[in-house]
Order: sequence, then C-alpha cells, then structure tokens
Amino acid sequence: MRSATRNPIDEVRNVVMDLEMQNYWMPFTANRSFKTAPRLITSAAGVHLIDPDGRRILDGSSGLFCVPAGHCRPEIAKAVSEQLRKLDYTSPFQFSHPGGFRLAEKIASLTPPGLDRIFFANSGSESVDTAMKMALAYHRANGQPSRQRFVSRELAYHGVNFGGLSCGGMVKNREGFGTLLPGVVHMRHTQSQKGTFTRGQADAGHDLADDLQRAVDLHGAESIAAVIVEPVVGSVGILVPPKGYLQRLRQIASQHGILLIFDEVITGFGRTGNRFAAQTFDVQPDLITMAKALTNGAMPMGAVAAGTHIYDTIASAAPENGIEFFHGYTYSAHPVATAAALATIEIFETDGLFEQAADLIGPFQEAVYSLQELPLVTDIRSFGLLAGIDLATAERFGQRGFAALRKLFEAGLMVRVTNDTIILAPPFVMTPTQIEQMVSIVKDVVTRL
Ligand SMILES: Cc1ncc(COP(=O)(O)O)c(C=O)c1O
Repeated sequence: MRSATRNPIDEVRNVVMDLEMQNYWMPFTANRSFKTAPRLITSAAGVHLIDPDGRRILDGSSGLFCVPAGHCRPEIAKAVSEQLRKLDYTSPFQFSHPGGFRLAEKIASLTPPGLDRIFFANSGSESVDTAMKMALAYHRANGQPSRQRFVSRELAYHGVNFGGLSCGGMVKNREGFGTLLPGVVHMRHTQSQKGTFTRGQADAGHDLADDLQRAVDLHGAESIAAVIVEPVVGSVGILVPPKGYLQRLRQIASQHGILLIFDEVITGFGRTGNRFAAQTFDVQPDLITMAKALTNGAMPMGAVAAGTHIYDTIASAAPENGIEFFHGYTYSAHPVATAAALATIEIFETDGLFEQAADLIGPFQEAVYSLQELPLVTDIRSFGLLAGIDLATAERFGQRGFAALRKLFEAGLMVRVTNDTIILAPPFVMTPTQIEQMVSIVKDVVTRL
C-alpha cells in the first residue's frame, strides 16, 4: 500500500530520473548538451510551465508562439476529450465530419473578406507547402503553367519541408540539404540597419520591396507564381517591415499577376494586435498560412486561407465531379484537432483575447525597450506582442544566445533564442505585472552574462 504522505513532486522527479535519454532524437536541439543537463517540463498552467521539481517558469515565448490563451485551458481539454469519445477519426478524402466545416466557417469569419476557402494541414510547414502548391495549381488552371518560380526573402523562415525550406533564408537550416527546390529567388531582407532600437516600423526602407520588380525584370513575370513573406519575420529574431513595404510588395505583385502569400504562422490570431497581420497592415494577400495559435498549441494543426478566386479558378478547371486539387493529408481537419481549434477560437472571442493582446502591446513594448540600457544589448526590434533583443556576439556566433537561454531558464523564464537574439512573445493573458517580471528576469540575467 502506498504511503498516505506521498509527495507528488517526488513522484514526478523519480519518473524523470528513470528516463532513458538516448532514443529521443530531439528537433532543433543540441542533443548532447541537453542530455547532460535536461530542461524538462512536466506540467503547465496559465502563463507558467512547471518543472519536475515543481518550479514555476514564466512562459515568455508562448512555447513556440503557440499558447496565447495560456496553458491547459479546461475548455480545450473538455472539447478534445468529448471529441475523442464521440469521433476520434474519419477519412478526410471523399468523406468528412461536421467539425471541419464549422471550423472553416469560423476561420473565414476572422480572415480578411475574400480569403474564405480553408484547407487544413497539421503544421506551419505543411501549410506553407500547401499554399505553394495552390499557387502552382492556380496558374496552371488559369492557363499560365509557366509560372513556377517563387520569390521569397533572405532570413525568412517558412518551416522545414522542402517547399518552405527552399523559400526560407536561414543558412543553417538549408546548407545540409542539397539543392532544394529549383527556381526560388530571394529578395533582400528588411533589416538594413542594426542598432537603431526602432520601435515598430521604420520610416525608411519600403523600396526594398522593389527587389520583387528586379526579380520580374530578370526572370520575367510569366515565370513567377508567387511571392511569400512573413508580414513580421519571426523565428530569425523579429524583423519588422518598413512602412509601406508590404503595400509596395502587393502593388508590384498585382501589377504582374504574381500571387502574394502571407505566412502568418506566428502573426495569425492576434499577435500583431489584430486577428491577422493582413488586417493590421491593411494589405490583402491571396493566401494566408496559419498554425500554432489556431489550437492554442494543444493539438497539431495548420491551415491555409485561400482567396475565393484561387479556389474558383482551380475548381472550375477540373472535370465535373472530379477531384479539384490533388493534395491533402491523412490528418487534414482531424476531428480532435478541429475540436481544439473551435474551442480555442471560442476562447479568443468570449474572453476578448484579441483586444486584450492589443491592450498589452503598450506595456510590453515599454518594458522591453527598458533593456536598451544594458551594455550587452545591441539592438531591439518590436511589433505587436513580439520582440527581438540582440546580444553582442561573444567568441562564437550563437554562444551568448545559448548561454542566455540556459541561464534565463534557471532564473525562471522560458524564451525562444535564435543565434544571439532573445525573442519574447508572451501569452496574451499575461498581466502587465507579469510582463514586468519577465523583463526584469531578462535584465538580471543579461547583466550577469
Ligand atoms: C512563419 C513560419 N512559417 C512556418 C513555420 C513552420 O511551422 P511548423 O514548425 O509548425 O511546421 C514557422 C514555425 O515557427 C513559422 O514561424
């Protein structure tokens, strides 16, 4: 019989100490280093993650930009558990379930008008590849099959599948994996000056969008299917588009019949103070990719919102009663992920979380820019509830960033780090006091680095 005085923390710790670590090959992780000093999380609640010792760690990056509504929301747990008991799975090819239609309708009520045909995937990477295929299928259906090139940007992150990877511009992610997709042209990124500590959008630099015109001049518009950008670049360290940049990109793309894809895997669902960044910047793309916050991170799910014109063109080119788009995933519109997403969007709406996020932007940015005084901080960029804080590079690129990640975790804060940049992206349910607490942990740790 078990002792009546058993300590739950000891139980968790014992299970963790028994872990055999060699089999799990961890993603985007220094595996050997991790396994000598693991950073494990065993539970979570609200804006906190909890480690095996019961230590509460503030989630300064919403996991990986996934958890705006806070962790372990009972509404999502209930919806998922009910769905698992009712319908766990059904084929999404030539069959479906009501949840997929309900969720598509709900998403279409949040996206800009006209972006109302929703295709489901399981991740951001799959959503990006789906959007790229839609662009190719659209031009083919429209009698322009020669439009096969993609234009993207240096320093972009569009996931890790071969389509998105080819469009991506993070060197380490690309260099080990061969020639990638042919016909991708990279524009310059928009971070022309460092160390300016610019808040929000820079006044200068919108002419960098003319790189799209240069791609047209060099390769011919008739060879270009789409241009893909993150409205605010996320994973590489928060690069904010200069004023007028996205508008100019839209203008050039429209002029030459090129589709504009906004990769909103991070910016979607409130992160920039509006439902989508397309609305924040008042620029209408032809396709929007989304994932992460769509289910508050509780289930893997991604989606693409396509313009009605994209769907109509592709559908009308297919034979009557024939499959229109030869693409899809075993788990497209998975019933359980769908239930999680519907419950998440209901939380966004009933709790007014998009408005709450918009209200938090001021206190967040105020707190973040107070880090400017630290000698090791060389630049800060911020937009919405996103901030990138650059640290001076030590002997090796990325070394100081990794040290910051470890020491911040020890001090009770989880952040995302890319190279020597700390990225903050708090859940929308953080209070202004918790925002200050988060930034003061960063201040203490960076001061001692
Ligand atoms: C803009 C963007 N696109 C795509 C992805 C890939 O998403 P996933 O990791 O879910 O495949 C990410 C992930 O961070 C992202 O930030």
